[in-house]
Amino acid sequence: MVEDFIKLNNDIKMPRIGYGVYQILSSMTEKCVSSAIEVGYRSIDTAQCYGNEQEVGLAVKKSGIDRKEFFVTTKLWGCRGYSDTLKSIESSLDRLDLDYIDLMLIHEPTGNFVEIYRAMEDFYSEGKLKAIGLANFYEENYLKIINNCQVVPQINQVETHVFRQQEKLRDLMKEYGTQIESWSPMACGQNNFFNNETLKEIAKNHNKTVAQVGLRFLYQQNIIIIPKSTHKERMIENKNIDDLELTNSEMEKIRTLEKGKSLFGWW
Ligand SMILES: NC(=O)c1ccc[n+]([C@@H]2O[C@H](COP(=O)([O-])OP(=O)(O)OC[C@H]3O[C@@H](n4cnc5c(N)ncnc54)[C@H](OP(=O)(O)O)[C@@H]3O)[C@@H](O)[C@H]2O)c1
Repeated sequence: MVEDFIKLNNDIKMPRIGYGVYQILSSMTEKCVSSAIEVGYRSIDTAQCYGNEQEVGLAVKKSGIDRKEFFVTTKLWGCRGYSDTLKSIESSLDRLDLDYIDLMLIHEPTGNFVEIYRAMEDFYSEGKLKAIGLANFYEENYLKIINNCQVVPQINQVETHVFRQQEKLRDLMKEYGTQIESWSPMACGQNNFFNNETLKEIAKNHNKTVAQVGLRFLYQQNIIIIPKSTHKERMIENKNIDDLELTNSEMEKIRTLEKGKSLFGWW
């Protein structure tokens, strides 16, 4: 049995599998997050620009489960510098209706992101953010933060799946102690992910699904994953990868699927 948490560089424990809510309509979010909680997810990944922080907060509250058991992530959007970021963090705390946020990320390297990061560091030192980090920061921008920060980012959340494995970035971040987290761990279905022949064959050998093989490939390399589904049976399926152990030769086969570029063309 593999440990269910990864210890971040500040000793905070983050679940290795969470639930992502990108592209879930705000009108559907509370129901979806409640289902995810019911089937055992405790880590929820939202963002200011998803427009559903409030509904995530409601589902957490209504679950009746101790707040301490949850790990709630959100991401800053559209900030330009230090002072507007302070307000923006407060606004997320208000919408989520939480006393603290487990992890806050800068969603993308725009604005004066060193100043934006400083504002997060101040909330972090007050205990209102338990961990802080980045999303979509590659080498140059990541190093700008490293060279100017007090708190080494706990997380960098980047596009990571079988077609974009981020080995180079992972090696760099290892040097500094930043944990990688995958967004779109199933490539959001791009590049015909769910019908990939290599993944299908491996899945068949283990009596598992393509989704489970793709997710396990990341999980087995200590990459945090946050698969999204609006279907309860898929939420269960995506979490059920504990008993799947890919062999070295299967891992090698999947490594050859690397495309060396983004499937989304964002970053
Ligand atoms: N930081 C960033 O810039 C960024 C960018 C993108 C995503 N993210 C985060 O990462 C999370 C996950 O990424 P994502 O939502 O883009 O993509 P994903 O989790 O890779 O894939 C989600 C897609 O796969 C389908 N799906 C889920 N489980 C399935 C299964 N077992 N079998 C078949 N189809 C399945 C879903 O459809 P159904 O819902 O219909 O099941 C949905 O279309 C997001 O929700 C968000 O929290 C962050």
